[in-house]
Order: sequence, then C-alpha cells, then structure tokens
Amino acid sequence: MKKIDIHTHIIPEHLPAWAEKFGYGGFVNLEHHTNCSAKMLIDGKFFRELQNNCWDPKARIAECDQHQIQLQVLSTIPVLFSYWAQAKDAWDVSRFLNDHIAGVVREYPDRFIGLGTLPMQDPQLAIREMERASSTLGIAGFEIGSHINDWNLDAKELDEFYEAAEDLDVCLFVHPWDMMGKEKMPKYWLPWLVGMPAETSLAICSMIFGGIFEKFPKLRVAFAHGGGAFPGSYGRIKHGFEVRPDLVAVDNPNHPDQYLGKFWVDSLVHDIDMLDKLVSLFGIDKVALGSDYPFPLGELNPGKLIESSGYDADEKSWLNYRSAEEWLMGRMGD
Ligand code: CO
Repeated sequence: MKKIDIHTHIIPEHLPAWAEKFGYGGFVNLEHHTNCSAKMLIDGKFFRELQNNCWDPKARIAECDQHQIQLQVLSTIPVLFSYWAQAKDAWDVSRFLNDHIAGVVREYPDRFIGLGTLPMQDPQLAIREMERASSTLGIAGFEIGSHINDWNLDAKELDEFYEAAEDLDVCLFVHPWDMMGKEKMPKYWLPWLVGMPAETSLAICSMIFGGIFEKFPKLRVAFAHGGGAFPGSYGRIKHGFEVRPDLVAVDNPNHPDQYLGKFWVDSLVHDIDMLDKLVSLFGIDKVALGSDYPFPLGELNPGKLIESSGYDADEKSWLNYRSAEEWLMGRMGD
C-alpha cells in the first residue's frame, strides 16, 4: 500500500556562515567530521549529531524503500526557523532553505514533497516568501512553529498570514520548538518529553479558542506528534470551556468539539491505544502517517505502528496516505 510520511526533516549538507554574514550569532552550523556524520553546532556549541540521511536524498530513498515509504514530506529542522533573528536575516535563511528543499523535490519528484519555512516574525515578509515558494518553487505547504516568539498562533498579527495561506491554497504543518519552561528542565531530555507535547497543545488550543479555524475555514493545518498533549487532555480542555466560558470563550463562543475533525495530526505517538484515541477524536481522515525521520525520538521503523494496528485495509489507506493527500492538496471540488 502507498505510504506518505508527512513528518520528516532535512537539512542542506552545507550551510552558509550566517553569523559572519549577518554580524551576530545564534545560527546553526554543520561540522562534517566523518564522511557520513556531522555535528550540528550553535555558536560553536554542540547541539545534535546528524547522519547523512539528514541531508543525502539517496540515503533517505534507500531507507524509505526499506520501510515501503513512497513519499516523504520534507521540512526543515525547527532549530533553523530563526524567528528570534532580525526578520530580513530570517527571510534570507528561509529563502536558502526553501530553494534547497525545492531542489531536492525537483530532482526526485516521485519521492519527496516540500514544505517551506518562513520568517514568521514579520508576517509581510512571510507572505512574500510563501507566494514565491508556492508559485515558483512548487512548495506544497509551510512548516511553522507552535508559537512565534511572544505570539501564540491566535495573535492578530498573524491574521493576514492565515488569509494568504488560504488564498494560496497551501497547507500548514505546526511543529513544536523553543519549548516552554525549558530553563526549568535541565535534565532528563524534558524539553523534548514534556515541553514539546505541551507546545503542540498550546498551538491547537490557541487556534481553536482564538477562532482561527472559524475565521479561516479553508485553512488546512496539521499538528506534529499526534497533537502532543492535546488528545490526552481534551476532556479537561472541553470541561474548562464549559465551566468557565468567562475565561475560555472570550474570543470564540463556539464549543471546541466543533473543531475536532477540522484539522489533521500525524501518527507519531508510539502507542497503539493513543493512535486509536486520535482516530476516535479527530476521525480516520484526519490522522496521517508521520515519523519525525531521521531522528531518534521518531518512529524508527516509519509506518510500523499503523501497520501493526487492527484497522482494515480501507482504514489503513486513510492513515497511510489518503489523509495526507487531502491535507496536502485539499478535497477536489471543495
Ligand atoms: Co519533527
């Protein structure tokens, strides 16, 4: 059966010396220390080890073949978002990364679909790059962070961006980054284990309660990691709306139930009962295979959780590719 993996990350093999170019630090650099591995450095400080499957399309395709994945949706690694930088510099970084992803997709159009990144701290520049990348580069959609510096995803400043995304008919992939409370979590990889799921729930709740799905009903948004902490705490979120509308329903009077089934999540939950929960909460046509390839916290055998589930062939076709296709392209005729 066809399989599309909507959550995979890629990086160019070589990055420009952005700190030198822009005159200040904070940017990522790669130090290739063997033929097939590199250290990801931020201001010379070790951040993460990468293997060549993070930049080499051929290495990725070989692993995709092993796991029967026909198509990977490529997005940048959130540490490259650069929302914290000066907007014009983040714009420069975005164009470089989008040109790279578009080049990989052009070379292997049967194996990859590209998502771009945008200088979201300046919505006007983000819209300009979104227009360029979707019209001239063939980029299908855009990855954005779970918040943009001090803005949550309901910020009024982002309205023009959502409107443009609707008009351009591109999909959005919301990925956690810059995890809340990380300074209080120095041990046990907690920013990744506790902060990331909270970030994704923050993003979903902000978009629901901020009325984003109401104002922009044609937006196609997918959230990483099965929606993070949102599905597991949805009972609490909904109860909170019911008992304290004075606090929760201040921007959107509609019950959050109305928005379940209006957005997508990936399948990256590592737990069969939680996959069932996603399907019952969001609908089978709103859950799409996503692995976080090629990182260790991802599904190491992409697609295995869905494969091992009790869903029938028709249901698996949604999880494996049909939900992804509708997110990427919309429903024909709608
Ligand atoms: Co990821």
